[in-house]
Amino acid sequence: MRERLLEMLTEREGEYISGEEASRRLGISRTAVWKHIRRLTEEGYAIEASRNRGYRLAGMPDRLTATGLLSRLKTKSLGRSLHLYDEIGSTQDAAKRLAEEGAPEGTLVIAEQQTNGRGRMGRSWLSPKGKGLWMSLVLRPNVPVLCTPQLTLLTAAALCRSLRRQTGLEIGIKWPNDLLIDGRKISGILLESSAEEERLLHVVAGIGISVNLEPEDYPPELRTKAVSLRMAAGRPFDRTETAALFLESLEELYDIYRKDGFGPIRLLWEAWSVSLGKPAVLKTPQGIVEGVPLGLADNGALRVRTADGLVREVFSAEFE
Ligand code: BTN
Repeated sequence: MRERLLEMLTEREGEYISGEEASRRLGISRTAVWKHIRRLTEEGYAIEASRNRGYRLAGMPDRLTATGLLSRLKTKSLGRSLHLYDEIGSTQDAAKRLAEEGAPEGTLVIAEQQTNGRGRMGRSWLSPKGKGLWMSLVLRPNVPVLCTPQLTLLTAAALCRSLRRQTGLEIGIKWPNDLLIDGRKISGILLESSAEEERLLHVVAGIGISVNLEPEDYPPELRTKAVSLRMAAGRPFDRTETAALFLESLEELYDIYRKDGFGPIRLLWEAWSVSLGKPAVLKTPQGIVEGVPLGLADNGALRVRTADGLVREVFSAEFE
């Protein structure tokens, strides 16, 4: 109910909605409307009340709220089951636990701050309070384990698309799933899966987006390697909007993937890739591969032309 009330207030774009209209459209008493308004103000929404004109939304809280996110979200399943924390060790660990307990597809764990954020290759992930989006999503795709790399690339393509749309920034994808602006990382994706024999049981997609971090939020060793959307664009972004646009974009591409396979996703990923066509040195678990990345194979591997003229498929590697 509170989500629908917030949606109505937001639709008015700062104009008043009368208590009478809100109560009629929501099918609840005017006293109940007033109680929901009071709860919204407790959550940090600035709502002005006028005896004659009703209620008007004068300001949104700078923190994430379940009401704000759910009222803004237009997805069918992604993010519909929402677990929002002020502080957590890692959303990834919480989402993995929920997935093992049978949480439905689309379950989202999101936190204002992570005290033990995890990155790829055992690295830690900087997740300061109120500055970014630190979230993990449970997916249950009905695909063989071999297709897991495709899901990583799909998540990167969906995020690249939504962030480019929201910010207008030139954001590129570094294989497999780092998003960069001018060579500096703005976001990371950590996909962890659980499988039984050949069958994928669930996937937990962890997404970290450095939305509104400022230079002083980064330790010195990251200052040349990482950047936030705010620093790149010179203005802050509404994190609720960033989260909602990403989940909508992911749901759209995920539907296409399940219907038409990886082909369309591969084209999107390749269009935004900054890793193709330039000589590269790749550190794979099997050793160094030197060559020119050409594009993606259907299984999600990176196709690399090596000096001997052969095209090799690389599944897991770090660019040197
Ligand atoms: C990377 O190394 O690039 C991947 C970073 C993934 C970070 C996200 S933030 C939300 C989720 N929870 C974590 O502990 N890690 C992922």
